[in-house]
Amino acid sequence: MAVIVENGKNTKFYTVQTTLAKGNVKLMTTNENSSLLEITDLATSVTERPDVKILKGINLTIKPGEVHALMGPNGSGKSTLASTIAGSPTYTVDRGNVSYKGEDITHMAADQRARNGIFLSFQYPTAIPGVTLVNLIREAIKARTGEDVSAREFIAQLRETLDRLKMSEDFARRYVNDGFSGGEKKRAEILQLGMLRPELAILDETDSGLDIDALRTVAEGIKTLRDPNMGILLITHYERILNYIEPDFVHILVGGNIVASGDFDLAKRIEGEGYDPLLRELNISEEALI
Ligand SMILES: Nc1ncnc2c1ncn2[C@@H]1O[C@H](COP(=O)(O)OP(=O)(O)OP(=O)(O)O)[C@@H](O)[C@H]1O
Ligand SMILES: [Mg+2]
Repeated sequence: MAVIVENGKNTKFYTVQTTLAKGNVKLMTTNENSSLLEITDLATSVTERPDVKILKGINLTIKPGEVHALMGPNGSGKSTLASTIAGSPTYTVDRGNVSYKGEDITHMAADQRARNGIFLSFQYPTAIPGVTLVNLIREAIKARTGEDVSAREFIAQLRETLDRLKMSEDFARRYVNDGFSGGEKKRAEILQLGMLRPELAILDETDSGLDIDALRTVAEGIKTLRDPNMGILLITHYERILNYIEPDFVHILVGGNIVASGDFDLAKRIEGEGYDPLLRELNISEEALI
């Protein structure tokens, strides 16, 4: 059994021992060993090109409330991992499995995963001309909950979220990503995150292309959206966003394998010296990068 202690800044899990700490303590229905996402020995290839093997045996466990940063050189498989967790048919699982909230979802369809609370913010969001962001979000909430919230309730929630994320209502009424700048596309993803409140949020390079002020707004937005039941997998190339959303774990993906895991210091090290010294230290050759 575990408790969640919220001190306003951070949320941590503690094992209940003899006495409960005083303060804002909520009892959990799950025990501390229960993970939100558990990936075991996951290997994938491209469905239309079975010879192209990308992930080569990933193990990763994310518990509710945790933030895991995923870093790695270009082409190492980060987006492939994100898409595979979200159930993209572009990739085929050759080995291993993905379990979510205790259920094996390795072969579950993407829309079912989304309904179950898995959210993927795309590295390259696509445009949907003719569909406004507001409509997309409303339909997504309907699909997720199976209920149509009243227009009044929806608008109230939308305004509150826009306010929190420092976005305008005009922005939300534009067609999805149609003519959006790179930074606007990332903001649109975060608005969806804020409205859908998933249990597992996978954010693929949400910080890329944002100017300094937008990065702060988006990062602080994500931070305010954090909740003790939500796990976050944050894919990034830069330490910068992690200064706002401090990760509990940092993983380095190279050539389809997680070659190192650590805490925030690992991200700082990569930012400072790049990947080469770490790879040399781990005896990972150039060929392994492909
Ligand atoms: N549909 C596909 N067809 C062929 N090759 C693919 C496909 N999807 C991914 N790959 C290849 O798999 C490798 C991993 O790609 P992925 O997009 O997962 O990398 P990444 O770590 O997200 O890189 P980046 O940091 O540049 O975003 C790359 O070499 C890529 O070209
Ligand atoms: Mg990528």
